[in-house]
Amino acid sequence: MLISADVNTALNEQIGHEFAASVQYVAIAAHFDCEGLPQLARHFYRQAVEERDHAMRFVKYIVDADGRVEIPAIPAPRARFASAEDAVQLSLENEMTVTKQINALMDLAIKRNDHITRNFLEWFINEQLEEVSSMDTLLRMIRRAGEKGLLFVESYLAQHRKVHDDAPPVEQES
Ligand SMILES: [Fe+2]
Ligand SMILES: [Fe+2]
Repeated sequence: MLISADVNTALNEQIGHEFAASVQYVAIAAHFDCEGLPQLARHFYRQAVEERDHAMRFVKYIVDADGRVEIPAIPAPRARFASAEDAVQLSLENEMTVTKQINALMDLAIKRNDHITRNFLEWFINEQLEEVSSMDTLLRMIRRAGEKGLLFVESYLAQHRKVHDDAPPVEQES
């Protein structure tokens, strides 16, 4: 086994956190869907898929490192939100929490002189910067628009997506 038992345990806990983030985003997406905000819904359905991919990266890594995959219980997500701001605020707080969790994992890998796990975690360190930054931007936009101005946010997301969809396909690093 390439990883120590405590690193293995911490990686398993992170699988739980990533799946928890995924189901929370599904709940938020469904909320927006019910509220007649399809672009916000689509945005969060996509985030949910990304979080599932994050969980699967950890699964694959543990398997590659010859550890044991033990997925913890996933807590029920919050399903009710007072406003769009409330839902996106929760998303930002969750991304900040995940950033701390990834940092703690990195601290542990450093303590164990586990360079393979450190190298694996680098991708997540960069990813968290991107996730926190984009969620923060979305929250600011929603606050500026206000509940009555959410259709502006919808049209921004639709336009932003169009730019992305029209861009030539980029080779994705897996
Ligand atoms: Fe994640
Ligand atoms: Fe995330």
